[in-house]
Amino acid sequence: MSILDKYPALKAEIDKVAEVAGYLWQKGWAERNGGNITINVTEYADEAMRALPAISAPRPIGTTLPALKGCWFYCKGTQKRMRDLARDPMANGSIIRILDDCASYEIVADLPVAPTSELPSHLAVHNYLLTNNYPYKASLHTHPIELVAMTHARKFLEKDVATRLLWSMIPETKAFCPRGLGIVPYMLPSSVELADATIQAISDDYDVVMWEKHGVFAVEKDIMDAFDQVDVLNKAAQIYIAGKNMGFEPEGMTDGQMAELSAVFGLPK
Ligand code: 13P
Ligand code: ZN
Repeated sequence: MSILDKYPALKAEIDKVAEVAGYLWQKGWAERNGGNITINVTEYADEAMRALPAISAPRPIGTTLPALKGCWFYCKGTQKRMRDLARDPMANGSIIRILDDCASYEIVADLPVAPTSELPSHLAVHNYLLTNNYPYKASLHTHPIELVAMTHARKFLEKDVATRLLWSMIPETKAFCPRGLGIVPYMLPSSVELADATIQAISDDYDVVMWEKHGVFAVEKDIMDAFDQVDVLNKAAQIYIAGKNMGFEPEGMTDGQMAELSAVFGLPK
């Protein structure tokens, strides 16, 4: 018996998470337990769901997040594999509610699977999104090979250098990631400092945030859209690398061609 049996709309969202988890594994972006997903599922929490007992003791988030009072999230479990989550999302993740102190949470369903170690970053970002009235419900952290490889070159860590290069590889990149890739310098995984830096990058107006030598963090309306953002950016990185592998420096679209794209499609940058 799963909580999803009673909540078909919630099940539909979690099914999308499972589908994306399978894509992450197929892409080679999810070695072992690599990557994590959280979804704000508060809209599905009716009175009956809110009355459910906790199945864990309260646990600290590590930071206080006032906008998350009474919010509910589906979270990938820490140390759980995306390829396993693809088959069984409720055995490899759990549904949590944030307690009234806004600094702790408890697990409600289905099993006491401890949430991802990157919970501080995910929840801090959801707190930021709610505070600023974004319609985004999904956050995705994953380890896309080519994008992570690029962060091992100092030049690509400079402001907007990687964004410009990726945009110039194929017009769709700028059209579908029109705010580009923000860069967060290397920080300890799962730290509150990394969470704060991620929020800073999102508020600096980027679609996707790159964690140097680690992975990316994307937010979107749902998990499919978050996946697409990373997929589009990583495709551009692959095109760049394919050109390099053929022995030349890819030319890239010109500044004029990219400006035309922004003008015709009404892009923000
Ligand atoms: P979790 O297994 O705790 O989600 O961690 C995976 C990861 O990618 C950490 O950055
Ligand atoms: Zn990671």
